[in-house]
Amino acid sequence: MIILGIETSCDETAAAIVGDDRRVLSNVIASQIATHRPFGGVVPEIAARAHLGLIDGVVRQALDEAGVGIGEIGAVAAAAGPGLIGGVLVGVTAAKAIAAARGIPFVAVNHLEGHALTARLTDDVPFPYLLLLTSGGHCQTLIVRGPGDYTRLGTTIDDAAGEAFDKTAKMMGLPYPGGPEIERRSAGGDAKRFPLPRPMKGAPGCDFSFSGLKTAVRQTLDKLPGPPTETDVADLCAAIQAAITDSLCARLKPALKAFREACPEGRHLVVAGGVAANRPLRAALDALAHKSGLAFVAPPLPLCTDNGAMIAWAGIERLRTAGGDPLDFKPRPRWPLDGTAPKARGAGIKA
Ligand code: KG4
Ligand code: ZN
Repeated sequence: MIILGIETSCDETAAAIVGDDRRVLSNVIASQIATHRPFGGVVPEIAARAHLGLIDGVVRQALDEAGVGIGEIGAVAAAAGPGLIGGVLVGVTAAKAIAAARGIPFVAVNHLEGHALTARLTDDVPFPYLLLLTSGGHCQTLIVRGPGDYTRLGTTIDDAAGEAFDKTAKMMGLPYPGGPEIERRSAGGDAKRFPLPRPMKGAPGCDFSFSGLKTAVRQTLDKLPGPPTETDVADLCAAIQAAITDSLCARLKPALKAFREACPEGRHLVVAGGVAANRPLRAALDALAHKSGLAFVAPPLPLCTDNGAMIAWAGIERLRTAGGDPLDFKPRPRWPLDGTAPKARGAGIKA
């Protein structure tokens, strides 16, 4: 069986064709980064309109690149939340229309579940595993026991890690999205020149916090004698990247302990979401997993940031375990993976 997956919940219009044998036949991503760049972040109304203009062409290209006709698709999945509702509506409506016209199942996929299950598409990782889900809107640690079966151990109490990258980049006058820009400029920077805090390091529980980092970067910039030089920016980028990496690793330690206690049979630490594309972070997580006796799995870079293949794959897993969804399924701007976890800013919210 092959499935079409559609992703429109933020600023990527994406569609992919994926087989239930884990083959990615196509994975088309039309990024709107250039459209939003003048505004320093994603503008929801502009995103929704751009998705509308792009969706038909992106789906057609995904079919063409896979070399399949629409008649060969066995099901269609779309990210139905959490996310910017105008964009989500575009992808969900397109998917429902295709499902209705072709008489095939429609699957409403939680965008976060797309990220969460990517390691099973790429590396066939068995359940249960410990997941660090870190993106522009989320920063959570979760025990993943199966599709729809998540226990949240920690979440951010303020900003997500990707948000911290994006907002501090903006303060330095760097373009959106900040994460890849900061990673690039960190090369050759001195991470020790500007001391930055490691919020919540050693605090009880597994939650994250990144807003203090933002304040510290603001104060560091204000103390410079003039506008930051290229060297200042490189040093500050290196310091920010090191602080975020250290904080994520420090807050993962209690989560690793909780995971070992809850799931002694678990063998894997998995990272997912846009921030998982960061190479120094991947190296640090690899070392941490190794020290904890776990194997480390990070998806290839194009499958870390938003894409249609992750939605297609989660659609396949949902179809197998829960079946399809009715065509009157209502998209959800908020949709936590662990519905029993206490409400917290950052959980199930895509800012
Ligand atoms: O998963 P994603 O594409 O969209 C959301 O669901 O939020 O994640 C986007 C986030 C942005 O905050 C971006 O700055 C960050 O991922 N990001 C990175 C890197 N590539 C993307 N952060 C750090 N290093 C990177 N290489
Ligand atoms: Zn995402």
